[in-house]
Amino acid sequence: MTAESPEPNVVSWNAGRIRLLDQSRLPAEEAYLEIDDCRVLAKAIREMRIRGAPALGVAAAYGLALAASRSSAVDPAGLLAQMEETAEMLRSTRPTAVNLAWALERVLGAARESAGATAMAEVALSEARRIHQEEIEAGRAIGRLGAELVPAGATVLTHCNTGALATAGYGTAVGVIRTAHEQGKRIRVLVDETRPLLQGARLTAWELQRLGIPFTVIVDGAAGEMMRRGRVDCVVVGADRIAANGDVANKVGTYSLAVLAKENRLPFYVAAPTSTIDLSTATGDEIPIEERPADEVTAFAGTRTTPDGAAAANPAFDVTPARYVGAVITERGIARPPYDESLARLLGTGARAVKTGASKW
Ligand code: MRU
Repeated sequence: MTAESPEPNVVSWNAGRIRLLDQSRLPAEEAYLEIDDCRVLAKAIREMRIRGAPALGVAAAYGLALAASRSSAVDPAGLLAQMEETAEMLRSTRPTAVNLAWALERVLGAARESAGATAMAEVALSEARRIHQEEIEAGRAIGRLGAELVPAGATVLTHCNTGALATAGYGTAVGVIRTAHEQGKRIRVLVDETRPLLQGARLTAWELQRLGIPFTVIVDGAAGEMMRRGRVDCVVVGADRIAANGDVANKVGTYSLAVLAKENRLPFYVAAPTSTIDLSTATGDEIPIEERPADEVTAFAGTRTTPDGAAAANPAFDVTPARYVGAVITERGIARPPYDESLARLLGTGARAVKTGASKW
């Protein structure tokens, strides 16, 4: 961000409490929540006051540190049992974003290896801080690697919000956009408004404005027409979970964009940290898709937009089959098809450069 607009403080540990920027109130208001109870944190996550897969992981990790620091248990076994219970509650809040479960497991793993109850609380907080720092660094690396795929003067279409707000760091797809902009590539961004909760219109637009990156907001349904008119050069999105075969779960509407991109012979890229890759999930069919309350669809800003009694379905995510994905940009390198090989290699070896070769379209 510019000197006048520092990085938003999305989530932090603040004197034994968790401080959260309430994203549900942006862009109208920059309000913060001070949380000292994990049930309140779980509610805030469900209500999307914090959201975005990597940011959810960071918040959940601090949540376990909070549980450990507030516990009355005197012995390590009792404390661990309480932490596991808290982890179960937090894990169930947003089932699609694998970063949440991944971060909880990392903190629990660190706690299990520590000696006493006091040490466990300290270890949990250190591990949460480490996860947070790693996500910040991953975003910068994703930005550097991904910017190489963005031509100078390009218009990049993106969906949902994948910037600092979604990552508690630098950003994934927005990270790629930020770095390309910082490199002086004179890019423009088309921002899908992202129905029904408007993460694109409210949050990505807010971030891009603070960063001084030129952008235009469009309704989700306008993406195809923009592509047909030749107004888009590439699509870059984030991910909530990437299966071992390269299928990608991301904000609902992503699949339609991928199909449209293929039809219009445009590159479609996914930017995500390796914490979003879930090799234990074989394909996208196995990814749990969060179903959110119907009133997010039937009402807007508290006003009903459908007739009384209208049924509504509200899947919060969709699955884009791997065959539409030109590249997966991670902090460790850029994976290309076939993903079952390139993603495994990326996670297994930690090598920076994975499979190279031109995208199919
Ligand atoms: O429902 P949300 O707002 O949590 O969904 C967020 C997304 O779909 C993002 O694209 C994804 O989490 C990647 S964030 C870097």
